[in-house]
Order: sequence, then C-alpha cells, then structure tokens
Amino acid sequence: MGDRLAGRRALITGGAGGIGAATCQVFCEQGARVAIVDLEREAVEAAAEAVRSEVAGAEVLPLDADVSDESAAAGAVEAATRTFGGLDILVNVAGIRSYEPLAEAKAETWRRILDVNLLSYAYTAKAALPALRRSGKGSVVNVSSTYGVSGRAGMGQYDATKAAIIAMSRTLAFEEVEHGVRVNSLCPGYTMTPFHIRRGEARGLTREQVLNEEVGDCLMRRWADAREVALPILWLASDEASYVTAANFMIDGGRPVR
Ligand SMILES: NC(=O)c1ccc[n+]([C@@H]2O[C@H](COP(=O)([O-])OP(=O)(O)OC[C@H]3O[C@@H](n4cnc5c(N)ncnc54)[C@H](O)[C@@H]3O)[C@@H](O)[C@H]2O)c1
Repeated sequence: MGDRLAGRRALITGGAGGIGAATCQVFCEQGARVAIVDLEREAVEAAAEAVRSEVAGAEVLPLDADVSDESAAAGAVEAATRTFGGLDILVNVAGIRSYEPLAEAKAETWRRILDVNLLSYAYTAKAALPALRRSGKGSVVNVSSTYGVSGRAGMGQYDATKAAIIAMSRTLAFEEVEHGVRVNSLCPGYTMTPFHIRRGEARGLTREQVLNEEVGDCLMRRWADAREVALPILWLASDEASYVTAANFMIDGGRPVR
C-alpha cells in the first residue's frame, strides 16, 4: 500500500473493463476510495470484489449505470459524492467500438458511439465539476486512444470520438483552471484487456496467440498490460502532476503519428 492518493475520492467509468478495473486497483493501492461505474450490476460488483481481494482494506463502491444517459451519469456522480462526502478525481474510461467503414456507417451506430464515448465524458464531468471544484485538487483524466491522433481505415466512428475527447478535455482544462481543476487526456495503444481476449477467442485464438500477433508500428513491439496504462492515469490524478493540465499523453510503447 502507498499513499499517493491518500484521502482522495475517485469515480471511474467503465470500471468493470480492463483499463478501468486496473485503474481502480492502483488507486486503491495508493489509498483512494473509488466508485466504479459500469453497465451491469453483476460485472461491476465482481470487479469491486476482485480489487478488494487484491488490496487489503480497499474501499470500492460499485455502481451500475449507463453513463451515456445524462441523468444516469449524474446519478452515479451524485451517489459517489454522497457516499464519500465529496469527489476529487474523475476518470472516464467507458467506451465501445464500431467496425463500420465510413462509407457504410449507419446513423444509429454513429449516435450510439457518440453517446457512449464522447457525451458520457461530458455528462460525468458536468455533474462532477461542483464537487471537483470544492476539492481544491480536482483532476479529470479522460481515456482516448492512439487513433484519436493517427489514422487508419475501418473504425472511423470510434476514431472520431477519440479525437473529440482530446479536444473536449483541452477545452475543459482552459475553462476549469481558474477553479483549480486539472484536465488531461491519455491515448493508450495496444492494451491487453478482457475485451481483446474475448475478441481473439471469437477468432479461435488464445490470449497468448493474440499477444504474439503482429503489433505493427509499436516501437516496443508488444502489447501493454492494463496496469501500464493505469499507472500513468494514477500519476495524472495525483499531486505529482500538479503542474500538468490541458495535456494529452501517448501511452503506446512508441508509435508514429500519421
Ligand atoms: N484496450 C485497448 O487496446 C485500448 C486502446 C486504446 C484505447 N482504449 C480505450 O480504453 C477504454 C477501456 O478499454 P478496455 O480495453 O479496457 O475495454 P472494455 O471494453 O473492457 O472497457 C470498457 C468498459 O466500459 C463499459 N461501458 C461501455 N458502455 C458503457 C456505458 N454506456 N455506461 C457505463 N459503462 C459502459 C463496458 O461495459 C466496459 O466494461 C475504452 O474507452 C477504449 O476505447 C483501449
């Protein structure tokens, strides 16, 4: 156990997913109380229990909510703030993917991915700002993707939402600096999470086979473990990053931007 987030109260969306759950764990290891929000009650409770079993004394509040719904997002923020008596850190991780080439992209999938990947980040931030301002050490960390800054074919809807997250985070940083709230975004590269394991299995591949697949343009030529993304999030959320705002970080093992 460390004390890098001692006394801090955090809310993490997408907390039952790979990066969200790993972030919850490193936050608890460093003394934070953490609310994790995800779609399914069972999944979010299992994620909370997994962290409690790894980190003695961990205080995790599991909340089930669809954060793409503004009132549900606000309700989750309110529940966390009420339970903890305030909120210091918001980490937005919730996300979905869409694999339609833009020539075939449907209005319905456009709306859904914008709702989840972009608007949920706006809704939770809006709801959390009063508490984050009161904190005096408020920090928002928004998870984007390397594909928010570099191009590829096939996932244009997802990539557009991830680019918008970077822009929205920067604007929020400008608007909130006078209230003492720092806002940053972060772009993971290939990160091995249950999502990719399930996707590999659907193609008949084991976790090891997915890990050994070509990682293309990554300088380190390997996948990240979710913890390797969670640790930069921890740093951004903590006082160690007290002079860092309106920034975007590439956590991608070194990949070219084009
Ligand atoms: N794994 C990677 O390689 C990678 C790379 C770059 C960016 N990312 C981003 O990191 C984040 C987490 O990725 P992951 O690989 O851990 O994926 P994941 O799919 O396991 O995690 C996303 C979580 O968000 C939850 N979620 C989705 N819609 C929601 C909603 N409306 N309300 C509440 N929760 C919702 C999901 O249930 C899931 O638990 C995503 O935003 C993803 O785009 C991942």
